[in-house]
Amino acid sequence: MSTLSTSASNSEPSQQPAEHRFRCIGCGHLSDSAGQDFRCTKCSDLLEIIYPSRMQAKPDPQALKTLWQNRRLSTAVPDISGVWRYRELLPALATHEQPITLREGNTPVYELPQCARITGVPRLFAKHQGMNPTGSFKDTGMTVAATFARRAGFRWVACASTGNTSASMAAYAARGGLRSLVLVPEGKISWSKLSQALDYGAVTCQLRTDFDGCLHLLQELVRQAPVYQLNSINPFRLEGQKTLAIELLEQLDWQPPDHVIVPGGNLGNSSAIGKALLEMRDLGLITRLPKLSVIQAEGANALLRTIREADGKRLISVQAETRATAIRIGNPASWKKAVHVIEATGGACEQVSEIEIAQAKAEIGAEGIGCEPASAVTLAGLKKLVQQNFVKPDESVVLVLTGNLLKDPDFTIEFHQGELFKQAGEHATALNRLRRPPIVLDATLDAVIKTLDQAEKS
Ligand code: F0G
Repeated sequence: MSTLSTSASNSEPSQQPAEHRFRCIGCGHLSDSAGQDFRCTKCSDLLEIIYPSRMQAKPDPQALKTLWQNRRLSTAVPDISGVWRYRELLPALATHEQPITLREGNTPVYELPQCARITGVPRLFAKHQGMNPTGSFKDTGMTVAATFARRAGFRWVACASTGNTSASMAAYAARGGLRSLVLVPEGKISWSKLSQALDYGAVTCQLRTDFDGCLHLLQELVRQAPVYQLNSINPFRLEGQKTLAIELLEQLDWQPPDHVIVPGGNLGNSSAIGKALLEMRDLGLITRLPKLSVIQAEGANALLRTIREADGKRLISVQAETRATAIRIGNPASWKKAVHVIEATGGACEQVSEIEIAQAKAEIGAEGIGCEPASAVTLAGLKKLVQQNFVKPDESVVLVLTGNLLKDPDFTIEFHQGELFKQAGEHATALNRLRRPPIVLDATLDAVIKTLDQAEKS
């Protein structure tokens, strides 16, 4: 049995968690509560969470840093969570309320020496969100949103998903005693992610449509049934996902990197990271903003086209197609928020091809780290940003790896067995050098030693 205390730590603070309100990102309308669709009652745009009381009485940045540092020594449950540790920047827990937590966050920052050589950027790091409890960054948002779903008295939570959100939601719902409904596109999510939702006890529906179709249906459902929506339209999710950036800055001793690079799908995560960077700047926790850049797959490049062809003013949807199924999204909900944070931080948006994704994924794997295909767009995108001289060799770069290698084993195996991109054109040599197919042998010592010799020579 756990001996951990479940109350907040004793070293509690002069800093009080902030009261929050909802603000429409379109018309600025303020409200104290949000409807089940999390859209503005005046203009239907998305809502964001703001903290008016914090604007009046700003917390002391040095005191906050010390408080968060000290909590690392605490055994209280909210302090062990790498999300709730930073609760002064999150919606407040009620007195004695325990969050639904799986000890999310607390993810490592790794150096990437081989990728640094490949890209010519020596100070290259990965913040690996795939090391979260269910294997993706979704857990940092889910702990907050699931906690607020329970507090609001809902029995059912639901999401549309390309797989990771559903895995995470199902786990947190199970931990919090909630029932969960998953809507996923049939045949378009990896078996690993599907199996997680099943094992964590979700009611899992494979719909004959794509992610965008699933999300559309979910939004109709929550208007008619008492079901709490846990997609990243839900602004509580994004508040939790902010902690990725807060924890990263703490790990870097509050010295901002020059660039943070993140994959873009439904664009909740880039919005959350950008919001955190801007809030940390406004609170005086950092004095300089990293440039936040978003990378998409060429076949799911709605944000890129929105910025290039419509100057970020209106969404250009696409029919999405990519083997990086996590970001196979053509109609991203949080596009306006993402455009805002890219502009506010001076970042960029790029796209990368399927082959570039596969190559980058194998290069990250060869560092002994690994990630799922959607995460590898960050390294592939960095190569382009270096070519364009947007990222300079003397600058520091953090890639946000959003999902664990084990999330999509089919992709990895097909790649190494040479079944993916048989015709790789100019990339063929590079890809073949990275492929490590399994070798079937007779069970003899001789066969194994010969294989070892050959490998040594290659
Ligand atoms: N990387 C991974 C591994 C993801 O699962 C996702 C999104 C993204 C990147 C993109 O993040 O949507 O915030 O821009 N997955 C969602 C899901 C859509 O349902 O699991 P985003």
